[in-house]
Amino acid sequence: MSQASNQDQLKRDVARAALEYITPMLEADTIVGVGTGSTANFFIDMLAEKKGLFDGTVASSEASAERLKRHGIPVYDLNAVDGIRVYVDGADETNPLLELIKGGGAALTREKIVAACSDEFVCIADGSKWVEVLGNFPLPVEVIPMARSYVARELVKLGGDPVYRDGVTTDNGNVILDVHNMQISKPIEMEEAINNITGVVTNGLFANRPADILLLGTADGVKTVK
Ligand code: 5RP
Repeated sequence: MSQASNQDQLKRDVARAALEYITPMLEADTIVGVGTGSTANFFIDMLAEKKGLFDGTVASSEASAERLKRHGIPVYDLNAVDGIRVYVDGADETNPLLELIKGGGAALTREKIVAACSDEFVCIADGSKWVEVLGNFPLPVEVIPMARSYVARELVKLGGDPVYRDGVTTDNGNVILDVHNMQISKPIEMEEAINNITGVVTNGLFANRPADILLLGTADGVKTVK
């Protein structure tokens, strides 16, 4: 099997494991938070098997909302629900504390909002996402467009090397700076420092609200990390 199709199989495996994990939570009034990206897409396609056994979903992006609707799965505005029982989403990196880098798909702000509202956050990732120290994957930062240059200069002061993600506008109408060359040894402090820069909407560090459980796809099967 090629490396890409092997990685896709691991993504399928963790999506299946997540579906099994959340199935006992599915009741008539259950709202499921649904993430964004290729791993989340596998989960969405499998969640369709459970259609009708739960109330509906809140999506972390327009793309995921469209995919859910194509399956006939109800999608609610976050303001229309009281809470989210469980949120399932992928990640670009995870460390052993389940602190994450997310936002490779530019959906980080809505992902962080959905995670904040969820009783439980289940992260699904293939083994390539596992790292000891976050930062090899460039850290996405969503920025108000007029603040782009200012925020970039401030990110350089924090030790990073920001690169404008050309041609990408987020679902919220903003732009993305990807910050390269960061060794993030203190994720909580770094998340707060970046969020304190005026003009930043949010950054892709999920450290203040890490995942609660990680389903990690490896050649030896799906490992559960809590
Ligand atoms: C999107 C995300 C995704 O969860 C992250 O990029 C992982 O994507 P994939 O499952 O395609 O590897 O944060 O903003």
